[in-house]
Amino acid sequence: MSLDASDSRCYFGLGFNQYRGLGMERPSFLNFKVDHMTLLVQPEMYNVSYIVFRTIFGCSPEHMLYEKRKEWVAGEGEKSLTFAMQTGHGAESKSELENTMIAVVQPSEPAKMQSHVREMLNQHRAAAHWQHIALRTPDLLSFHRHATELGVNFITPVLRDDSEDVIQVFTGEWFFPGSPPSGMFFEYLQRNPSEELLKKLSDRNRESWFNDKTFLGLYGEKEEEYRRGKVTPFLDFELFEELHALVKDKNLWEITEADIKSAEKKMRAYAAKRV
Ligand SMILES: [Fe+2]
Repeated sequence: MSLDASDSRCYFGLGFNQYRGLGMERPSFLNFKVDHMTLLVQPEMYNVSYIVFRTIFGCSPEHMLYEKRKEWVAGEGEKSLTFAMQTGHGAESKSELENTMIAVVQPSEPAKMQSHVREMLNQHRAAAHWQHIALRTPDLLSFHRHATELGVNFITPVLRDDSEDVIQVFTGEWFFPGSPPSGMFFEYLQRNPSEELLKKLSDRNRESWFNDKTFLGLYGEKEEEYRRGKVTPFLDFELFEELHALVKDKNLWEITEADIKSAEKKMRAYAAKRV
């Protein structure tokens, strides 16, 4: 039996052609928005990730939507299991910003050619792997400055993807001393940058623009990192250790505002001496 475009069993009773005729419409129960993402981290990373959300992501204690605890062994006290940070909120100014997208990538290179995507999948012994989460900001340059001043490593300069009318930047991976690179990093992006902003960027950063080649530019960079065996972390190990030392003996809920201030001070000092 062949499955062709006229197969009438598809799409909940609508014939394929009938459905396609509706353009981009789809039933409301198939209108998926990203509600949340869940990131698994090793214990060494848990409290430090809280610091990262409080400082780099600018979350206040009120942005922690929940934090759950459990006492696994009677008498040993509670452990923090999970917390959720609200990293953004509010309606979009333009309807084209209301898209929710999932990008799918395969290792398309010939088997003998090096492929970062293949390497990641094999390394994780996985048929699928979530690679990066792209977070949109209305002002990428301000965010970039803010994050750089707090010690965040970016593996690319601010890039422009003409075909999507987007400027974007990619961070180092989330991992820590003694652990292998996780393969997980963040992208921060801004859509529909103004002519003025593009001019400013190209003046500042002319040689490092990969117009129309952003996608391959990122993968080329990742390939290079893995070939060298030197993967850039989100935060340098030295800084990670400083932050870890600050909070490693605490339960998440015991991290004080003074700890966050002190962490931020360390991050600024570290980043300043690096420049
Ligand atoms: Fe992306």
